[in-house]
Amino acid sequence: MKQDQVFDLICSLVDGDKQKIDIGFNRMISELGNTNGAYRLQRIYDSYKNNTGKLIELPQALKPFVCETYKEVSMDNLLLNDTIIEFLENIRKEWSYRKELREQGLTNSNRVLLVGPPGNGKTSFAIALAGYLGITPYIAITNELIDSHLGESEKNVINLIQNIPSQGLLFLDEFDTLGTSRTDDTASSGRAYNNIVNSLLMSLDRLPEDVVFVAATNRDDLLDSAVHRRFDVVLSFPDPTIEQKEMYVEKYMKRKAIQLPFDKEKIEQCTSYSDLEHEAVRLHKQCILSGLL
Ligand SMILES: Nc1ncnc2c1ncn2[C@@H]1O[C@H](COP(=O)(O)OP(=O)(O)OP(=O)(O)O)[C@@H](O)[C@H]1O
Ligand SMILES: [Mg+2]
Repeated sequence: MKQDQVFDLICSLVDGDKQKIDIGFNRMISELGNTNGAYRLQRIYDSYKNNTGKLIELPQALKPFVCETYKEVSMDNLLLNDTIIEFLENIRKEWSYRKELREQGLTNSNRVLLVGPPGNGKTSFAIALAGYLGITPYIAITNELIDSHLGESEKNVINLIQNIPSQGLLFLDEFDTLGTSRTDDTASSGRAYNNIVNSLLMSLDRLPEDVVFVAATNRDDLLDSAVHRRFDVVLSFPDPTIEQKEMYVEKYMKRKAIQLPFDKEKIEQCTSYSDLEHEAVRLHKQCILSGLL
């Protein structure tokens, strides 16, 4: 990347020249290609656009807890059931009316729990939801939030949830590792867990209306009932039915504009969308490698 481009972009940001800022960001992002740097810059640019001209980066102290890179997912590429489609329409509407709702003492639905067995789109959906609402996704590294030092984990949780830049979506995967039921255990490990859960409850109660909080778990039965109650919506991502599996296969071939020799029995044996994706990719590669495409 040329130094001139960096200086030009900084100057246009200082001048507030919107047209030059757009050109500068787009040029540098395309020049960085498929790299981590390009993803980071894209996120800064998205955050700039979403905050109508303010450059908002994640506070330095939160960076260790948030993934720098993630695979972009579009909602169009996911097979979703009617309940989820209805939820999407609703959350977008409430999001755009959030100020009016607040004026009437109401809040928009912005705490969403995704549950279901592995490989059926919880993570993909969370990332796609940010794109759908036109806001920046912040994907937490859940393990990093847990600190062996007493009191640090709950501080991390509170800091992260309360400091996500506005018009952002915070995604916490493997949420059961944080929000498991509180115990009567008076041993220090039990007490530490209870403190994390209490911090979660407090942070979720204070979530600003222009931040969306999405959590995912395979084990919602383990979640503390008070934590569970804090969510406005619980969306289920079950294993696909036979019809849905067939639809997935059709959609894959349509998207790639190819015909693949799927074996019906193999499709039925796939449990999740993730299994189906593996099978589709395997066949797709086989066709390329055998010169059929
Ligand atoms: N509903 C869906 N429609 C289309 N593709 C899907 C769907 N669900 C999952 N996939 C594909 O399967 C892969 C795995 O999905 P994803 O990681 O989102 O699942 P998950 O529910 O988060 O799994 P885990 O519980 O293991 O974290 C993704 O690459 C995605 O493209
Ligand atoms: Mg996941």
